[in-house]
Amino acid sequence: MGGAGEGNQGALLSGGRRRIFSGIQPTGRKHLGNYIGAIRQYVTGQERADSIYCIVDLHAITVQHDPAELRARLYDTAALLLAAGLDPSRCILFRQSDLSEHSELCWLLTSVTAWGDLNRMHQWKQKRALLEDRRGGFVSAGLFNYPVLQAADVLAYRIDEVPVGDDQRQHIELIRETARRFNERFGDTFKIPELVVPEVGARIMDLQSPLSKMATTGGTELGTVYLTDQPDLIAKKFRSAVTDSEREVVKGPGKEGIGNLIEILAVVRETSVAEVESEFSGIGYGDFKAAVGGAVVAWLAPVQERYGELRADESALEAVLADGAERARAEAAPVLAEVRGKLGLGPPATRP
Ligand code: AMP
Ligand code: TRP
Repeated sequence: MGGAGEGNQGALLSGGRRRIFSGIQPTGRKHLGNYIGAIRQYVTGQERADSIYCIVDLHAITVQHDPAELRARLYDTAALLLAAGLDPSRCILFRQSDLSEHSELCWLLTSVTAWGDLNRMHQWKQKRALLEDRRGGFVSAGLFNYPVLQAADVLAYRIDEVPVGDDQRQHIELIRETARRFNERFGDTFKIPELVVPEVGARIMDLQSPLSKMATTGGTELGTVYLTDQPDLIAKKFRSAVTDSEREVVKGPGKEGIGNLIEILAVVRETSVAEVESEFSGIGYGDFKAAVGGAVVAWLAPVQERYGELRADESALEAVLADGAERARAEAAPVLAEVRGKLGLGPPATRP
């Protein structure tokens, strides 16, 4: 592991492996967009890089929540990530709130984050509008600061890559800007992380409303494929997918529904968009939709089976998270000590 106090720009770990970090919220039920855009990348990431994955429960309290529900959803998410193939002996998987380092670094980073930049974030603007539309809608300061906490998550670990879906582009750019500004003002401290989005499947769309991304909040029920949906429900959702009035299974303008299904099948089959288009050339939309649904059902079946087993044992999940937290803390604590020192906080460092 890289020494905590060293300048680290562009440096690889002593083992020569790249470092990956990503976070996922323990809210709602996870859907096919999460799986294709993000979770799939986490699993391949652990094979080639030192990987740290965090279930971001502190982010989840930026909107009104029910405490018991949050804990249940946290276990859901942990079980799902393990069922998808995260292996705690190959990666660090932990719960954000187990480390006070994330909250502390968040506060420290607010000093190098521009209010105006936070105010320009699309996600903030959307969520704020959504909340304000509700009668007496309460918008927390935490929601505004959400991207700063996300910056803290990443910057605490001297990361090379952040695998996420397309909707996180702006947040990752802000993290890079925050790191640059801190380094400029206080000396080389943070590594500038790179955004990694998958080439195909970075933005899975709602099956009923293919101009909107698949999402837990604001999406349609029939257009959102939850990873824990029963196979016949998944098949039904694909059969009912909204397409267009043409007949060709190709991507193109006005064909967002079909394009979305093509991307999903390309990911599931581990093939290219062009390959799917040529295979289904001349085949009707009904048959194509049924084929995609069937492929997704088969693809998710082993994950669903493992999920059931893993979710049933909460103490085993706690043990994985506790071990992950300990290993994560060993990485983050020295970074925090360096940041505090650079900011002039606390007693002067005693150097050996
Ligand atoms: P969240 O559940 O909001 O924490 O999102 C977890 C990850 O899933 C993030 O990396 C998102 O960018 C990604 N993601 C969410 N929705 C989609 C979608 N519709 N298509 C692709 N990726 C997505
Ligand atoms: N904001 C991300 C999302 O909504 C979740 C997240 C929190 C995250 N911290 C992160 C993603 C750090 C990548 C890196 O999907």
